[in-house]
Amino acid sequence: MGWTKKHIISIKDFSREEIDFVLRKSSEMEKKLNSGRASSLMRGRILATLFFEPSTRTRMSFETAMKRLGGKTVGFPFSEISSEAKGETIADTVRVVEGYADVIVIRHPVEGSARLASEYVDIPLINGGDGANQHPTQTLLDLYTIKKKFGKIDGLDIAIVGDLKYGRTVHSLTNALANYDVKLRFISPQELKMPRHMVKDLEGNKIPVKETRKLNLDDADVIYATRIQKERFPDPQEYERVKGAYVIDLKTIEGLKKSAILMHPLPRVGEISPKVDGTKFAHYFEQSKNGIPVRMALLCLVCGVKF
Ligand code: NCD
Repeated sequence: MGWTKKHIISIKDFSREEIDFVLRKSSEMEKKLNSGRASSLMRGRILATLFFEPSTRTRMSFETAMKRLGGKTVGFPFSEISSEAKGETIADTVRVVEGYADVIVIRHPVEGSARLASEYVDIPLINGGDGANQHPTQTLLDLYTIKKKFGKIDGLDIAIVGDLKYGRTVHSLTNALANYDVKLRFISPQELKMPRHMVKDLEGNKIPVKETRKLNLDDADVIYATRIQKERFPDPQEYERVKGAYVIDLKTIEGLKKSAILMHPLPRVGEISPKVDGTKFAHYFEQSKNGIPVRMALLCLVCGVKF
């Protein structure tokens, strides 16, 4: 696939070879970053970050990635200060921003908004999360974290815990894992199960899937915990019923495989006790740090910058 000017909208648009390619390039980028050889790759270019929904990591890590590459950033961190507040459409906003920047990252609460926006611009546009749908760059950094730890993705037993209905990170991650030879375990309250069509797709790909309510993490190599997505519940009472459904604490980790890793896209709101942070299982801060080389590599790839 040609990477220059490619929009990054859904992980489903990527083949396994393409995902593996990004992971390899991210690893090369990490070496360049650590040896100070990445700092002028994007000199003279501008990244626009259009965030219509709250974000700490995705926006800041894209901005950091661009600045570490010697580029500059413009944008807005919440929609109230953009012209959306005056009624401007996404289509108009991105067409205007195309005149200012070389690459766009957009986050929006509406599913499909990034795809729609990409149809109006010729510069590459990256989805930083569209509603409960997709978060492809999070998935690439998640896979990068797994590969860095285990040297592979095939053969792993992966437990995904929490809000599997509304969590876009777990939707993207599950789509990506469908390309690998993994065992999947989905742990969620009954109300927050993985959408049926996604489970069917996995079965079609012959991926063994177990769905349970019980937090059984025996034999898991990767535990991917997630936040219950309060803002996406149509009914606040339903949220009250399921909040705090799973808490991973020192007692939980006693039963884990010695080599297991505990991941979380963050922010956490009680799913993992801070007491676990000091243990060898905790990988979530390392995971979020891995967002920098992965996003640096992606920015260079879509902007046609060789490295
Ligand atoms: C996630 C998101 O925005 O989907 N955060 C992130 O980008 N790391 C997860 C979440 O908000 O729960």
